[in-house]
Amino acid sequence: MSDAITLAPITDGDIPAVVDLWARCGLIRPWNDPIEDIRIARDSGHGTVVVARAGEGIVGAVMIGHDGHRGAVYYLAVDPEARLGGLGRRLVGEAEAWCRARGVPKINLLVRKENAGVLAFYEALGFADTHSVCLYRTLDPDKVEREKAQKAAWAANLPR
Ligand SMILES: CC(C)(COP(=O)(O)OP(=O)(O)OC[C@H]1O[C@@H](n2cnc3c(N)ncnc32)[C@H](O)[C@@H]1OP(=O)(O)O)[C@@H](O)C(=O)NCCC(=O)NCCS
Repeated sequence: MSDAITLAPITDGDIPAVVDLWARCGLIRPWNDPIEDIRIARDSGHGTVVVARAGEGIVGAVMIGHDGHRGAVYYLAVDPEARLGGLGRRLVGEAEAWCRARGVPKINLLVRKENAGVLAFYEALGFADTHSVCLYRTLDPDKVEREKAQKAAWAANLPR
């Protein structure tokens, strides 16, 4: 099914559809600005966003970057109507090829605890738990308190 779908780097005109897709796929959090994330990835010289097109529509997307040692995959999304047809695997394969082409030997990705259901997908693709804990700190002092509050509010609303 995913054969009729083409993969290509994001264009400016794709951004609203990609952000809408990420929102529908539950990937946006109040403390992240997806438009700014796309801009940083594209401007960095070591990141990109790949979109999956079906006709005029966008049915998948993934952000890829690297720090010279490891590649990173973010915002992997396949439209709910297009799932289980191999497109998620294809997008991850594209991310891997992008890293290999730059001599980056490893790839990392984060799975939010509330999204643990997706682990079986990544395991099917050969990804494994690093047995590491991912730590985080906001570098913008103006955002520290606001992010803490946004994260606490988000966590309080998660189903238990
Ligand atoms: C995760 C996601 C990208 C998978 O896309 P997809 O196009 O349905 O995946 P594929 O069809 O390529 O599936 C590849 C393999 O994973 C399996 N798989 C896919 N989704 C799965 C799930 N939720 N649970 C278990 N296995 C799954 C498929 O059965 C397939 O296995 P197979 O090759 O042995 O047949 C899609 O479900 C999605 O967009 N989810 C919401 C966003 C998200 O959570 N992104 C990841 C953030 S870390």
